[in-house]
Amino acid sequence: QPTLSDFEIVDRRDFSDVTYLLEVRHPLMAKAARPGQFVIVMLHEHGERIPLTIADFDRTRGTITLVIQAVGKTTREMQQVCRVGTTLHALTGPMGEPSHIGASRKVVCVGGGLGVAPVYPQARAHREAGAYVIGIVGFRSKDLVFWEDKFRACCDELIICTDDGSVGLKGNVTVGLKQAIATHADIDEVVAIGPPIMMKACAETTRPHFLKTMVSLNPIMVDGTGMCGGCRVKVGDGIKFACVDGPDFDGHQVDFDDLMVRLKRFADQERAAFERWSE
Ligand code: FES
Repeated sequence: QPTLSDFEIVDRRDFSDVTYLLEVRHPLMAKAARPGQFVIVMLHEHGERIPLTIADFDRTRGTITLVIQAVGKTTREMQQVCRVGTTLHALTGPMGEPSHIGASRKVVCVGGGLGVAPVYPQARAHREAGAYVIGIVGFRSKDLVFWEDKFRACCDELIICTDDGSVGLKGNVTVGLKQAIATHADIDEVVAIGPPIMMKACAETTRPHFLKTMVSLNPIMVDGTGMCGGCRVKVGDGIKFACVDGPDFDGHQVDFDDLMVRLKRFADQERAAFERWSE
């Protein structure tokens, strides 16, 4: 059973105007969490349930780390009210199938935008399992780079890409991915996490090379337990529920166009909720 001090925010960092980190106390969750899993967070008793990938977990400190982008009503409200010492109303998880780690000897871990944080535990786990890990992380510009030290600690090589070229390679993460593929003939697996358009581009980059590519999908979720069907995604010829069958799937099988359409389906309601809240 969680205690009162569970869900307490013990650290907060702001990486940019929209990206912030919350480290939350939850010893049981920290113990159970595996790379690739996510939690569902409620800020208030009557608040929205939002799925967030576990960006890190520390079993000794008994905490999990969430890196959040303030893009909608709840994530912006959390940005305003979540401070060290405050608590979240609820934190459910760990949910989803953990990523399959251990079989691949050389792995490229690609994180772009909001995918940089969730790809980190996967990179670390592949390294701990003995793989050679090439990290590729993409940001808009130099000022927005975060966790370079953490990635350097668990990657054998790190390629930073920025849209404006202010540090590292100029361009999006596929520029780095192409470079990695050109210099390493023996890559076993690529893991790509980020906005759907980026994951789609990574999957298209690796497809001609027949390189196994795993992506972590972020559809709209409600219950997170396979009951509501909100998170349905088209994968190959079948329909899967990202919350229980994923969130990791074979990127060459995912219908990203369908995912992008479904992600926009509540855009009007989301805008209205945000406007009501900000009035
Ligand atoms: Fe309801 Fe997946 S979130 S079925």
